[in-house]
Amino acid sequence: EPLRFSGIYRFHELLPFAKPETVVTVGEGQTLLQQSDFVGTYVGMKPGRLYLQYEGMNPSGSFKDNGMSAAFTHAHAIGAKRAACASTGNTSASLAMYCAATRLMKAVIFIGSGKISYGKLSQALDYGALTVQIAGDFDDAMARVQEISRDLGIYLVNSVNPFRLEGQKSIMFRVLEALRWEVPDWIVVPGGNLGNSSAFGKAFMELKELGLIDRVPRLAVINASGADTLFELFEHRGLRWNGGRANMSIVDHYYQELDQLGRKASTIASAIEINRPVNLRKCLRALEFCDGVVRQVTDQEMLDAKAKVGAGGFGCEPASAASVAGARLLRDQGIIGSDERVVCILTGHQLKDPTATVAYHTTDQEQFNKVLGSRGVKRASFANR
Ligand code: F0G
Repeated sequence: EPLRFSGIYRFHELLPFAKPETVVTVGEGQTLLQQSDFVGTYVGMKPGRLYLQYEGMNPSGSFKDNGMSAAFTHAHAIGAKRAACASTGNTSASLAMYCAATRLMKAVIFIGSGKISYGKLSQALDYGALTVQIAGDFDDAMARVQEISRDLGIYLVNSVNPFRLEGQKSIMFRVLEALRWEVPDWIVVPGGNLGNSSAFGKAFMELKELGLIDRVPRLAVINASGADTLFELFEHRGLRWNGGRANMSIVDHYYQELDQLGRKASTIASAIEINRPVNLRKCLRALEFCDGVVRQVTDQEMLDAKAKVGAGGFGCEPASAASVAGARLLRDQGIIGSDERVVCILTGHQLKDPTATVAYHTTDQEQFNKVLGSRGVKRASFANR
């Protein structure tokens, strides 16, 4: 029964764009909220207060399947035959999997040169997607794919697509369901293209409006320090949603500065190596509604946190660990209290980026140097574990 089969369409009443009989699903969203005192201690929480929502357990290994199912449902409804995305790897793996599994569309994928982990690239290739590497990074690929899909009439599945965000709302529905609809104090999520944070904000706005919750959690969005546009704009330059009147000239000015300096995003967490997040405005709205904060964490902090998540018996990819590293930072800063209830979103599976993981743990100096040598990161054995 397709509605039960899908962890997003179980909530189809809250996703009113799709008639139940039209949904496209491969069984996404059957993920669980899990409590971890081991990781909680690392973050600085009292027992029983830290939860991990492990979205890496989706069919293609990341949270992207939540949104991809919704985008596919819409694309199918309007008769699209080809779908495209730019990706740092997970969106493309998800798109390729839905195309291969459903045979409803053909996938065209644009990736930045040398910017994608092999785990993710190998998924796109095995699933048979047309995979194009462009000269440039994700931000360049994103700009290209928006033009190309517009010009050629190809359905775009990046998170600029509003149906993606509809599906991603369900991550919050499942978190709340697991907490018996008791609202947690904090949701902590990595920020890249800012689709998740935007979707979460929208979920809480709607649940509150429907009277299903009476308060909303605070939202913490965590950038990598090498890809920190939201952090810079929100925490340093005072950019706010401001009831829909966000001063976007602050953003234009910042992007001009980046261009002048030739500054590109750079982090070991390749999933979130993004300087021009397409959902910036929507995310500002979510931050306003959920009294949000933005922080940045270093590659070292992410890799250390990732190793703790692994040692706690879970596991995630580097970008996902930004949520745990970010919660720890906010705890250190006294912004998160030790007895508040905190949910960190683990966005991608541990097996997605083995290169970074092995380099971090290995005693092979050459292997370490090749991957992490230029990043100012210490190996696991030397790091504070
Ligand atoms: N975590 C992982 C594992 C991701 O793959 C991404 C985004 C994010 C976090 C950031 O999420 O964009 O909603 O803020 N990956 C995209 C991709 C960009 O192409 O796979 P966001």
